[in-house]
Amino acid sequence: MKDNNVDFGLRTFLKELGGIAGGTALLATVPWLSSCTPARLKETAGEVVRIGMIGTGSRGQFHLHNLKAIPAARVTVLCDTYEPNLRAAADIVGSGPGTRTAANSGTRTAANSGTRTAANSGTRTAAGAGSNTRTPAGVKTCTDWRRVLDDPDVDAVIIATPLHLHAEMTIAALQAGKHVFCEKAMALTEDDCLAAYRAYTSGDRVLFYGMQRLFDPKYLEAIRLIHEGKIGDIVGMRCHWFRNADWRRAVPSPELERHINWRLYREYSGGLMTELGSHQLEVCNWALGLMPVQVTGMGDIVYWRDGREVYDSVNVTYRYSNGCKICYESLIANKYNGMEEQILGSKGTLDLAKGVYWLEEDNEISGMRQLLGQVRDGVFSAVPAAGPSWRPELRSRYVPHAVMKGNYGVAAGESMTGESGDGSDVLLEAFCQACITGEKAADIVEEAYCSTLLCLLGNRAMETGRVLDFPAEYVIPYMKF
Ligand SMILES: NC(=O)c1ccc[n+]([C@@H]2O[C@H](COP(=O)([O-])OP(=O)(O)OC[C@H]3O[C@@H](n4cnc5c(N)ncnc54)[C@H](O)[C@@H]3O)[C@@H](O)[C@H]2O)c1
Repeated sequence: MKDNNVDFGLRTFLKELGGIAGGTALLATVPWLSSCTPARLKETAGEVVRIGMIGTGSRGQFHLHNLKAIPAARVTVLCDTYEPNLRAAADIVGSGPGTRTAANSGTRTAANSGTRTAANSGTRTAAGAGSNTRTPAGVKTCTDWRRVLDDPDVDAVIIATPLHLHAEMTIAALQAGKHVFCEKAMALTEDDCLAAYRAYTSGDRVLFYGMQRLFDPKYLEAIRLIHEGKIGDIVGMRCHWFRNADWRRAVPSPELERHINWRLYREYSGGLMTELGSHQLEVCNWALGLMPVQVTGMGDIVYWRDGREVYDSVNVTYRYSNGCKICYESLIANKYNGMEEQILGSKGTLDLAKGVYWLEEDNEISGMRQLLGQVRDGVFSAVPAAGPSWRPELRSRYVPHAVMKGNYGVAAGESMTGESGDGSDVLLEAFCQACITGEKAADIVEEAYCSTLLCLLGNRAMETGRVLDFPAEYVIPYMKF
């Protein structure tokens, strides 16, 4: 289908990337953008992908707001089992300027094709739980996700349901011939990750996961700097995500507790590791280009003893074959340290979330100044300026260097659903473009698989209290150890 809109979001992003990587180096830097080059965008200008969304809760609604600004996106079906969320989603799609739905696009789509329109559709088949109706804006709504897969007005589905449903829905959607965007993490079990991965690799449909850091210019440039050697050899990585909030949502009646607060229960959720750690561990693998060989950790419910089953405090260590380690920590009863992915190099340190790096050379001080400083700071009672092991112990004087010039803001990780400018909008737009070209995007599924496996292994290590080796049965060709 054709539409006459111009694609500003992705184009602006590509322009920024062109500035970073020098145009032709773009694809080598970001292989998952191969169908999003300016030339490909020109070729496909005006094409539209019809989207069915399954799971219209917080993240689904966040995506709907972003979809409204994406010219290539037409939301045709919304699906959720919880009526208030379905209604809220329908309101988003049907409201406000820039809404690009079947109702206002002027494009031939499912809703104005002549067979059904917003005006004449009324309530459609309501067979049991899968009742299918239309909003005033002409978007279909239903409660049975399988109806979305059967719908000929859907080219692609966006899955934003709780984690335990990701694999089943993704696999079924791929098998139904739909392109799929599924929220992270990939699945709740290692076997389900592998099943989803195989469903993807054995078919020809596009699959994306909600890992927006892969589309955040600040992260892309930081990783490029790391790979260029700016901070020397990677010798360690430290990631943390701290909040001071119970991670609970208000529940209108007790029987909805597990449905609404699914994050807190192991039947549906991998807790802090899959919800938060999945983003951060992905960055570590991306930076180092390797997968860890071992994992160990400790997890506890330290503070929020409110009936939840998932840890509110996790400390997990991942070890790579070269001895480099990720020190991963998340705690949700203290937010002093915020959120960060810190890559430690032999020549410097890069804080990816802040978009800042620090060079060791900036902290080099002349011998005389070191000596004066140590005398002033009372480090030694006698002057120790002798011997080969003498080292200063002064306060750090590192100078921050911005990864990118301009206002690239810090995503502080405060929001549970997403933050504007964190790459989520570009990620969605790139997904739409991949659906239109039909080209699978390199590395995205593989990165999701790798980071989810590490989250699940981290959970397993914490539960068993053991040091676990990476299990051979879950190795995929993409992995290097
Ligand atoms: N990429 C990110 O930064 C990011 C941010 C937030 C959430 N997420 C992910 O998005 C997903 C959803 O999170 P959320 O915060 O929106 O949760 P949520 O609870 O707000 O929304 C989930 C929705 O799925 C619906 N649902 C449950 N079972 C269903 C079924 N069988 N069929 C149809 N709908 C069903 C629920 O009713 C609910 O509306 C999770 O995987 C989460 O990890 C990703």
